Amino acid sequence: MSAAPVICVDGPSGAGKGTLSLRLAAALDWHLLDSGALYRVVGFACRQAGVSLDNSDAVAEVARALDVDFRPTDAGVTVWLSGEDVTSAIRSEEGGADASQVAALEPVRAALLLRQQELARPPGLIADGRDMGTVVFPEAPLKIFLTASAEARAERRFHQLQGMGESVSLARLLTDIQQRDARDQSRSVSPLVPAEDAIVIDSTALTADEVLQAASELAKSRKLMS
Ligand code: C5P
Repeated sequence: MSAAPVICVDGPSGAGKGTLSLRLAAALDWHLLDSGALYRVVGFACRQAGVSLDNSDAVAEVARALDVDFRPTDAGVTVWLSGEDVTSAIRSEEGGADASQVAALEPVRAALLLRQQELARPPGLIADGRDMGTVVFPEAPLKIFLTASAEARAERRFHQLQGMGESVSLARLLTDIQQRDARDQSRSVSPLVPAEDAIVIDSTALTADEVLQAASELAKSRKLMS
């Protein structure tokens, strides 16, 4: 049992988990765990240290020794590695691909498990990821599985990257998303599947406000929100 209530927000890349989690954490004034950022930081730290992402034991050692800090700001949470702000560095497409690669290694997941569970502190935690409801917080009183079609997710990412001034191809993004989904769903450790007791929200045709409203109603029905 964790020391505080946890709302899990799991699902594939680009379904809107990050936005929903940030808004739920702000509405409830709860802590926020962006577990994807942890895997991204591990990949980034390995690149910096020249550790091959195929070397499971060495990557797990990097994960165990990780000096990572999440600092909330008005613009969202910033991620610090050994005193350096790596927030934008880890958000690249390559950062996502590296994260997905190290996340498939069992010793790496084991090294990060306790670190994630310790973040469940009063008054509560919003946990954003892939296996929050199935592995990290199996006792959580509310598990949301947020999904959307691959096309809708690629299009959202396309607009996000365009807004950041990056020129990308929509077709390429769609292929990347489909490949990452396939890898996340088929891996033997913590595959991306909804927990048996998760509530699925399909955001394909919903706005961010509508997703927040649906999630808030669920939280109210579980007496986690007033
Ligand atoms: O959510 P985000 O896109 O930042 O996650 C990057 C990658 O990290 C995902 O594609 C997935 O492979 C991995 N991940 C994971 N388990 C989590 C969170 C992320 O395997 N709980």
